[in-house]
Amino acid sequence: MDKFIIEGGFKLSGYVEISGSKNSSLPIMAASLLTDKDVVLHNVPELRDINTMIKLLENLGCRVERKNKKLVLNCKNAGSLRAPYELVKTMRASILVFGPLMSRFGYAEVSMPGGCAIGVRPVNLHIKALEKMGADISIEHGYIVSKARKLKGSQIYFDIPTVTGTENVMMASVFADGTTFIKNAAKEPEVVDLANMLNKMGADIKGAGTSTIVINGVDRLDGVDYAVMFDRIEAGTFMCASLITESNIKIKNIPVYAMDAVFEKFKAVGGFIDIESEDAAVVGGKDIFPINIKTSVYPGFPTDMQAQFMSVLSLAKGTSIIEETIFENRFQHAAELNRLNANISAIGNKAVIRGVDKLVGAKVMATDLRASASLVIAGLAAEGVTEISRIYHLDRGYEHLEEKLSNLGAKIRRVKE
Ligand code: EPU
Repeated sequence: MDKFIIEGGFKLSGYVEISGSKNSSLPIMAASLLTDKDVVLHNVPELRDINTMIKLLENLGCRVERKNKKLVLNCKNAGSLRAPYELVKTMRASILVFGPLMSRFGYAEVSMPGGCAIGVRPVNLHIKALEKMGADISIEHGYIVSKARKLKGSQIYFDIPTVTGTENVMMASVFADGTTFIKNAAKEPEVVDLANMLNKMGADIKGAGTSTIVINGVDRLDGVDYAVMFDRIEAGTFMCASLITESNIKIKNIPVYAMDAVFEKFKAVGGFIDIESEDAAVVGGKDIFPINIKTSVYPGFPTDMQAQFMSVLSLAKGTSIIEETIFENRFQHAAELNRLNANISAIGNKAVIRGVDKLVGAKVMATDLRASASLVIAGLAAEGVTEISRIYHLDRGYEHLEEKLSNLGAKIRRVKE
């Protein structure tokens, strides 16, 4: 197992290039199951979760060729319709093959994802939606077993706007008989990216990015050549790194259009943003002011940025409150940050962060992907050396993080434990 050793206190400078979005790439790769033609994808980050999705698609019978950030997928010979426990347990987003398998083959066996480090995360809404579309679903030996002669267009209402649920239903309904309406749909930019890709393949999807998505079933989808959007969470993570180190850096490939809530909070904390173009900005700051943050669905403040802002706020001149409304157990980084001299009390879904004068290096443990990022950010500002173990969580979702930070002047290295 690898760990990071970070020597804190160094300023950052220069520029960093943001990679393609993990949470866009995963559904977009799963959508390749919907055609027997080549799907050519650009800008796909080199990450552990992407490797897992490649393995899963290969397992289902797809051919995947990879050249750096370009993927060529062909699912003409897809035939095995089972997403096995061994893969699903390593990545919950494996559930994203459920919709496309049902759409193209009318059959799927997908291992039920269990709970995870940040919450229970059920998939009941995915299942209920597919049932409404006519699928006959049972849970057998830990697997969702689903059959349908042909899915039919339906009115789907989500109790909670679910990102992968919306993506699954969109993919399930592209060939359905008639029209599907997804009400209270997730509005995240990654949902829009998937809809744009599917429409380029010949689907008829309207309203992605709003709370009602309308999908008219079509007969077939073609191959496609598509570049996935840049990663708004990675961009926000580098913004936090700049502010906590009191440094100005330039971020290239930042998806400015998707970052309003993060920009607003960043400015409220004391950061400045100089937007140079639709995909480049200079960010930085010096003083950190206390603020309150409540996570919510897009266009609200993303839960995936909560941990990184907590690190920054631990050095604020005063007390901040963060309320987490999406996941019920997403404060595990608080106790680890306290090991670095932060003063955070987390009770239920609220964390009270009392700003301290300085963070001090220590040994800490990463507990999930974004929690790991928050520890790296804290380590950059902490006095002395911070050692972060279990960084395999980070490798799921941040491409070449230590390389990008080193290029900016941070003292960070990866060592084998
Ligand atoms: N929920 C249900 N039932 C369902 C589905 C969701 O109760 O059937 C609940 C969840 O438990 C949660 C809420 O609804 O409380 C929202 O969950 P959602 O389904 O939107 O999350 P997700 O689709 O599983 C995606 C991202 C997450 C991100 C969330 C929220 C991908 C692959 N994952 O997860 O990303 O935190 O949306 O924005 O897109 C990450 O990248 O670190 C990450 C965890």
